[in-house]
Amino acid sequence: MAFHFLILLLFILFPFNVLAQTRDTVSAGDSISAGDGYSTWLLSPSGDFSFGFHPLDDHHNNDLFLLSIWYAKIPDKTIVWYANGDKPAPKGSKVQLTSDRGLVLTSPNGYELWKSFDAISGVALAALNDTGNLLLQDHKFKVVWETFKDPRDTLLPTQILYKGGKLFSRRFETNFSTGRYQIFLQQDGNLVFYSVNLPSGYANENYFESGTVASKSSNAGRLLVFDSSGDLYVLKDDNQRFSLSPSGKTPSNDMSTRFYLRATLNFDGVFSLYQYPKDNKNSSDQKQSWIPLWSQPENICTSSLVSAGSGVCGYNSICDLNDVQRPICHCPKGYSLIDPNDAYGSCKPDFTQGCEEDRKLHDFEVLINTDWPLSDYVLQRPFTEEECKQSCLEDCFCSVAIFRLGDSCWKKKIPLSNGRVDVNLNNSKAFIKVKTKN
Ligand SMILES: *[C@@H]1O[C@H](CO)[C@@H](O)[C@H](O)[C@H]1NC(C)=O
Ligand SMILES: *[C@@H]1O[C@H](CO)[C@@H](O)[C@H](O)[C@H]1NC(C)=O
Ligand SMILES: *[C@@H]1O[C@H](CO)[C@@H](O)[C@H](O)[C@H]1NC(C)=O
Ligand SMILES: *[C@@H]1O[C@H](CO)[C@@H](O)[C@H](O)[C@H]1NC(C)=O
Repeated sequence: MAFHFLILLLFILFPFNVLAQTRDTVSAGDSISAGDGYSTWLLSPSGDFSFGFHPLDDHHNNDLFLLSIWYAKIPDKTIVWYANGDKPAPKGSKVQLTSDRGLVLTSPNGYELWKSFDAISGVALAALNDTGNLLLQDHKFKVVWETFKDPRDTLLPTQILYKGGKLFSRRFETNFSTGRYQIFLQQDGNLVFYSVNLPSGYANENYFESGTVASKSSNAGRLLVFDSSGDLYVLKDDNQRFSLSPSGKTPSNDMSTRFYLRATLNFDGVFSLYQYPKDNKNSSDQKQSWIPLWSQPENICTSSLVSAGSGVCGYNSICDLNDVQRPICHCPKGYSLIDPNDAYGSCKPDFTQGCEEDRKLHDFEVLINTDWPLSDYVLQRPFTEEECKQSCLEDCFCSVAIFRLGDSCWKKKIPLSNGRVDVNLNNSKAFIKVKTKN
């Protein structure tokens, strides 16, 4: 009888064994390889998060993978952390948990693509907890490394950014190479968003800051906290908060049980808090998606100038906001993208500009409320609109003339930078020199 019971038990357990090859902990020595599609190595106890190989959606179909953590239950399989953004792993790559270097990712020919740290002793196990945090622990379960303290572009509820901590944007929506934007909690307590010039990484002036530095009226910031209810704020030394939500709008307590929440520094520099319904059983006919609850800055196109750089969009391009406060870039008429695959890149004139050209062949495209604020080389005032146009037409350096304030004419030369649409320009006119159509 006992024997039959055992057989029955095995029979019942067997299918589960086959299905449940994923666990919530793995031990030193264990490894997994990138095969076809998703390979989950660790699953959090609730099943909300997976850790393993996530195929890169790279359109080239060349079987590249990201060692990453993603939302396991939603169709998007949204990535919240990734190890090897700059060095995608070819099929057959292997990640192993080692006792002395933590997680080590190697390509099929043995090239080391990424490791969690250089040298430390006694890593015993890795665990993925329900918050989405991957923890490496020693034999006494002491945490020696965790993804929450080595963030990429996303923060999750209960995650904290400490002084000196950074978030890094990815390059494009589906390209996880290091991108153009960073968020940094400085040692002085100020939380700043800035762009960097690639590939050197030189940091431009910030386009958003919390202003939480020690002064008469304020204490310095200490931590960037994403609490379990979805509130995201800089916690100051006096325990006051600076909320990152522009309107103070935060998810309600009950929302954080019904929705997944994440805060991501998007590839275009906008930092957004997103929600996604956890249970969408009765809305299966309706495709769910991540909905932004708020974004900072509120208008990245006009929020600042990037003195040594192109701005949000590439050179000669124009930044405008879409209805969810994300920037869209477009070339003026008479210009086109240098790299047609990079809509956020620079635009080139479709004709040769310069002093050898016959100016009689030129004409203007006119744009209202558009400006490239840092590219002028001369201001003429007082000037009429007609004088402004004529002056640009006769000047072989002039690529654009801005007529504003009823009497002022700024002449600008390429490359034009920090292009943006700004309704506060009070119907200024941008005269963009183009080749006459004939
Ligand atoms: C997840 O990890 C954090 C950090 O160690 C820990 O404080 C928390 O209790 C863990 N949560 C769960 C659900 O295990
Ligand atoms: C991501 O973009 C960078 C920079 O444009 C490029 O060098 C790299 O090859 C891209 N990665 C993938 C996987 O396409
Ligand atoms: C799901 O159904 C319940 C009960 O009918 C309803 O109150 C709720 O609004 C529905 N949720 C969604 C997301 O449609
Ligand atoms: C636009 O006009 C308003 C009202 O006259 C003025 O206060 C504001 O400074 C103008 N904006 C610019 C950018 O000149």
